[in-house]
Amino acid sequence: MKPLAQQRILVTGASSGLGRALSVRLADAGATVVATARRQAPLDELADRHPGIETRILDLMDAAGLAKLCHTIGPLTGAVLNAGVTHVGPFNAGSDADDAAMVETNVMANVRLARALYTPLVDGRLVIVGSMAGQVALPYQAVYSGTKAFLQNFSLALREEWRDQVSVGLFTPGGIKTEMTDIEALSKLQNMLAGADEVADELMAFYLSDRALRIPGFVNRVSATATRLLPRPTITRIMERVYHREP
Ligand SMILES: NC(=O)c1ccc[n+]([C@@H]2O[C@H](COP(=O)([O-])OP(=O)(O)OC[C@H]3O[C@@H](n4cnc5c(N)ncnc54)[C@H](OP(=O)(O)O)[C@@H]3O)[C@@H](O)[C@H]2O)c1
Repeated sequence: MKPLAQQRILVTGASSGLGRALSVRLADAGATVVATARRQAPLDELADRHPGIETRILDLMDAAGLAKLCHTIGPLTGAVLNAGVTHVGPFNAGSDADDAAMVETNVMANVRLARALYTPLVDGRLVIVGSMAGQVALPYQAVYSGTKAFLQNFSLALREEWRDQVSVGLFTPGGIKTEMTDIEALSKLQNMLAGADEVADELMAFYLSDRALRIPGFVNRVSATATRLLPRPTITRIMERVYHREP
């Protein structure tokens, strides 16, 4: 892999949370970062602070806009497909709009980006941000959990197909303190969340490696091992207890 000072890296979901923290780290280390998201103000603030950060407004649910970005993005040495959305609550209380946003943003946008960026990324690195919710089924985030499970097999399959061309890896964090988790429905879990900065440190180290999979955090790695030892319905029952809220 080239030194970061010679790299130009796309980061999606760079306006907040993990993507923002990663973009800052990569730019501080000398990389040029193409930071994308929908919100202009946080991207402007990033670009003002870091001359190494270029910004592009992109709604990942807009397939035509996404194709245009990929067509005009120029040379890349890497990409971190980090953007994602969730909806927390009983499945029956969800809506088609929420479900479509999760499937389009977490699944289809990453599929479209991976295919469109294959040629620019030859000899480079592609990291997809999944979730522990893809390793274990997560009641009350059933659709989100399904989208993240998709990313597991998708990224591992691509890694094999592209093994001589693009180094593909899946990064699967557990709970992180970001805008995504700063909601009433997750209020009782706040003290179990990792900081975005510490997870971004692990994400950057993973980006710089050639590894297939990284589960950041000791507790998450123990949980992932437990999922292989205990029956899956038992694990899911435990997760239901953790996430259950009295009506
Ligand atoms: N937080 C957690 O506990 C946790 C745990 C495991 C995995 N993850 C994963 O980590 C990744 C980053 O999440 P986070 O925790 O940092 O959440 P976050 O702070 O809410 O950031 C999500 C990012 O995605 C962008 N985004 C959302 N919808 C978009 C769309 N349609 N088009 C373009 N950009 C869009 C948002 O930017 P705009 O709103 O400006 O568009 C924002 O920059 C996600 O894939 C998430 O699933 C998070």
